[in-house]
Amino acid sequence: MQTQSLWEHTLTFFPQFLATLRERVAPDATIAVVGASDGKFVLPLATAGYRVVAIERDTLAVHGGKVRLPGDSDVHAMGLIDRLKLEKLHARVRVIEEDFLVGEPLDVQCEAVWTSCSWHYSANHHRPLSEFVDRMQRLVRPGGVFGAEFMMPVEKHHHSVEHYTSPERLHRHFLSDWDVLLTLSTNEFTERPHIGRPHDHTHRMGLLLATRTFTLTDRF
Ligand SMILES: C[S@@+](CC[C@H](N)C(=O)[O-])C[C@H]1O[C@@H](n2cnc3c(N)ncnc32)[C@H](O)[C@@H]1O
Repeated sequence: MQTQSLWEHTLTFFPQFLATLRERVAPDATIAVVGASDGKFVLPLATAGYRVVAIERDTLAVHGGKVRLPGDSDVHAMGLIDRLKLEKLHARVRVIEEDFLVGEPLDVQCEAVWTSCSWHYSANHHRPLSEFVDRMQRLVRPGGVFGAEFMMPVEKHHHSVEHYTSPERLHRHFLSDWDVLLTLSTNEFTERPHIGRPHDHTHRMGLLLATRTFTLTDRF
């Protein structure tokens, strides 16, 4: 790949999600990425042959522009759309530049949905976490895959915000119509500076992968 995401070096469970896709969905299936940013996961999915629906609310992430990197240097960052064009992947990707929580739930059906550390953003705190999860679940066809990696609480104020969650607490959203396939969580770890966080900082991350079960009406 000729271009790089600003988030390229942050820790991720994406390889576990990709392995689950390879087991459970067709090689040309459609995958939705909620909080697509500048394409850290969109581009590898499209390169792997999947069709992608990329949902992102941040204009800078979608169209690029000036960003401040750790070390206080200002650079022009390429946005998702220019990266897709440069890598000749734009034909496989539909970009929806919208806030995922605003308006009616998206009328899109996919074989899988993925999000990476998006729902804890403060812009989402005005809605319950269950709404974010429910809107993601609605995108997935029976037999399809739900994947989310998310921030777990580390700092004191995180404990009063339900969007910093855990695999255990998420389980209650997957009781009917879903089978949880895998949950993982890290211990606290130090993340190196990245966009928006100019210094070393501590994270704890979780993963939940689930599959939507078939009902009798889905089969016939
Ligand atoms: C931490 S960033 C993505 C970083 C990701 N780990 C990656 O490597 O690309 C999370 C992204 O989710 C987006 N996001 C958060 N809430 C959203 C919402 N309600 N609708 C659309 N995008 C959202 C943010 O704008 C941000 O670009």
